[in-house]
Amino acid sequence: MHRPLVVDRVYLTGLTPLGEQKSEPEAHSVNHGLTEIYRAVAQSKIPAISKQKRALIISVFDGIGALRVALNRLQVPVYLYVSVELDKAGRRCMRRWWPGLFECTDVEKFDEGVWKQIKDRCVGVIDTVLIGGGSPCQNLSVLNTGPKHLKGDRSKLFWHFPRLVKEAKIYFPDVEIHFVLENVMSMTPTSRRMISAALSSRPWLLDGRWFTHCRRPRLFWTSWPLQPHECFHIIAHEDYDELVVRVQTFDHSVWVKEGWQWPADNAELLPTLTRVVRRKHPLKDPAGLAQASFGAIERWELDDFSRQVYNYEDRVMLFNPLAGARRLPNVTECEILMGFDANYTLGGFKKITGRVLDECRSFLGNTFCVPVVTWILSHWLVRFKYAEELCPPETGLNLLSLPKPWSEQDLFCKRSHPVSTRECQLV
Ligand SMILES: C[S@@+](CC[C@H](N)C(=O)[O-])C[C@H]1O[C@@H](n2cnc3c(N)ncnc32)[C@H](O)[C@@H]1O
Repeated sequence: MHRPLVVDRVYLTGLTPLGEQKSEPEAHSVNHGLTEIYRAVAQSKIPAISKQKRALIISVFDGIGALRVALNRLQVPVYLYVSVELDKAGRRCMRRWWPGLFECTDVEKFDEGVWKQIKDRCVGVIDTVLIGGGSPCQNLSVLNTGPKHLKGDRSKLFWHFPRLVKEAKIYFPDVEIHFVLENVMSMTPTSRRMISAALSSRPWLLDGRWFTHCRRPRLFWTSWPLQPHECFHIIAHEDYDELVVRVQTFDHSVWVKEGWQWPADNAELLPTLTRVVRRKHPLKDPAGLAQASFGAIERWELDDFSRQVYNYEDRVMLFNPLAGARRLPNVTECEILMGFDANYTLGGFKKITGRVLDECRSFLGNTFCVPVVTWILSHWLVRFKYAEELCPPETGLNLLSLPKPWSEQDLFCKRSHPVSTRECQLV
């Protein structure tokens, strides 16, 4: 591989080194003017959601709970939220923002005992079970090499998803059971078809690009059909359907920190956010290396090959005209792009270090795009009579619309079975 000259990290490459990123506060306020507009757009049209229904939500591979955030953006009353997540920091983040949830640390240990505890709390109270999940894609994505696919150590965890859907029908025979599964578009057609067969569902291809300034082509398998609406159309493919959604676009100043700019006249989108893994050497056959510019390769090496090389091209980096510097989006910017409120991921940590910021970026590289999932869930709400009409597709971008702490407003309906985190936690 071509090795760049040793250069001044900031001024020649334009990449702000991690040490400097640490001294620069990650958090910043978003542009309130534009957010106000979004709030007005979305709130004026969000249809009333029935508060009569009670949903049990089981979020498998919950990460930082984009599903939970989406339900909140839609104001869906949640009776019990079961968060199944292995990662400690992810669980801390969820506990911080959503006290009262029921934790299960490992999907492989989600057994009869766990079902019985859930059933004790919910039976006779709930009318719906929704199982959501984005199973690990490490052995599925083209960004990683290897022929293992759904048999890979991580990706084979997918098989717990149809198992849990099947078991939900046994433990809650009298209520509607629904599911939504997300995974990468870049899997092989064989893996895609295996998942479709296991769930008896034909997937939707939906890209976050229609909702935000960032690519995120993902497949969604749902147990419900979409409600026809003029805001989207469908392009049929052999074994999946692609959705094109018309969403009111927002200005870059909503997410870009003051003093920084998205390169002018640039119709480009940010590449899909991915996990950040620092390495001494790049992976074998890194995606995009053959097309990469000299400058991008140089920055990539200085940043420990931590993301794909195409993230370091001038045209997709933020630019500071005064300092003449370029950088990647920071954690707060990524949070806003993915539909989370600023500082959401930092909720999982006690103090901010370079390693923590990498972990926050990885969470954001793993998570669902909140506005996309919000929109998909809005079809579920209509189908099952929680709402009479679809929410506007901008609803999931309704940043800062939720009073904090969110959980005080969001109703874990405290009726006959109050739920305490400590009591429910499975250690
Ligand atoms: C693709 S991410 C899903 C992210 C999530 N949808 C969100 O909103 O952040 C997959 C998640 O599965 C978790 N995971 C991996 N193995 C697991 C296991 N055995 N049990 C539960 N979760 C697991 C990972 O820690 C990771 O957070």
